[in-house]
Amino acid sequence: MISIPEFALVALVGISGSGKSTFAERHFAGSVLSADHFRYLVAGDENDQTASSDAFDSLYHVADKRLAARRMTVIDATNVQQHARTAVLTAAKKQHALPVAIVLDVDEDICWERTQARPDRSFGRPVLKRQRRDLRRAIRTLAKEGFRRVFVLSSPEEIDAATVTLEP
Ligand code: GTP
Ligand code: MG
Repeated sequence: MISIPEFALVALVGISGSGKSTFAERHFAGSVLSADHFRYLVAGDENDQTASSDAFDSLYHVADKRLAARRMTVIDATNVQQHARTAVLTAAKKQHALPVAIVLDVDEDICWERTQARPDRSFGRPVLKRQRRDLRRAIRTLAKEGFRRVFVLSSPEEIDAATVTLEP
């Protein structure tokens, strides 16, 4: 069971195709800020990586407003790179929210299969491989980095069976 403190900033952490957006919609609908959505808002294309910097600026602007109003917030982005997680931790610290990480650790082959079946994703396998390598490192360091609770779901079955409770 995943127990989320009342006032948290939750980072989903996982490679593309691991099911972050699916998980976010299922468990956190209405509280999710998605990097893809902000790329779409600033550039009209959720896959335009050249828009990432503007997209994350905008996303964290909104996150700060939400947190200032003490609204629990979930960041739907890969968050496999340390600089991405630093942004999460900085945003949480500024508004005294508890930083939480939920890792979706799904086998690369499964993610690749899903990715190939998606019309909205066109990157090659090396991109996934790089994300995977970053993820391995991330899993080891999340707690040290400052995430106060770290949940690791290690298979599609575990992800499917996960329940999320918001602490009153
Ligand atoms: P990116 O946005 O590219 O980083 O991927 P993501 O981590 O948000 O993955 P997303 O939730 O979009 O899921 C990727 C694909 O896998 C979609 O086509 C989903 O329908 C599918 N998918 C997600 N979760 C599951 C699952 O538990 N089982 C199965 N079979 N498919 C899933
Ligand atoms: Mg997604």
